[in-house]
Amino acid sequence: MNTQTQESQCPSMPRLNEPAPDFTAKTTHGMRSLSDYRGRWLILFSHPADFTPVCTTEFIAFSKAYPQFQALNCDLLGLSIDSTFAHIAWTRTIREKFGVEVPFPIIEDLSMQVAHSYGMIQPGESDTSAVRATYVIDPEGKLRAMVLYPMTNGRSIAEFLRILKALQTSDAHGVATPENWKEGEAVIVPPPATTADADARMAGEDECTDWFFCKRSLESAATT
Ligand code: BEZ
Repeated sequence: MNTQTQESQCPSMPRLNEPAPDFTAKTTHGMRSLSDYRGRWLILFSHPADFTPVCTTEFIAFSKAYPQFQALNCDLLGLSIDSTFAHIAWTRTIREKFGVEVPFPIIEDLSMQVAHSYGMIQPGESDTSAVRATYVIDPEGKLRAMVLYPMTNGRSIAEFLRILKALQTSDAHGVATPENWKEGEAVIVPPPATTADADARMAGEDECTDWFFCKRSLESAATT
């Protein structure tokens, strides 16, 4: 397989827990670099094209949820292979027709440099548009979660609020979170590393169904 075929069939993807690919890019709010977001969480997300209906619904939902992301020390940054003029015209249309102000910047990535470095171009979907890719980047600039959706189906913005809160909870308490975990629910205690740990946890205060399956309420831990 030659290099070009290989590249088009296997887009390079960033890896979890490694530094997110660096960029400096033109946006609707001026130039932005990944380093501008140091000390804050960032959700970088791509959409296939401006002035398309599914993308419009996603932008409306991201915009409405923006205060909740901000309250979690998280900024939003959009991207598509469209010009800044197209982004400006589209966000003005969203304001005029849907009454929603888009409060976050959108990258103009006509060269597709940022899109390629993040694996947003998936040739099975399109060679010229980004898929619906979403990356959660932590305050140290490390990539902590990524999700790719196809062109045809919109994302659940509530899911990104949920995973952001879950990651922050895992970092703060050294725990994992179960399927569809929501703030206030019990968390998962990481599995024991030794037989002694396994015995100890069954005798401890966590709610253990078995030695490998223990849950803990952070709320009761905080009040005791
Ligand atoms: C949309 O956002 O509506 C859309 C974009 C690309 C392909 C299909 C739908």
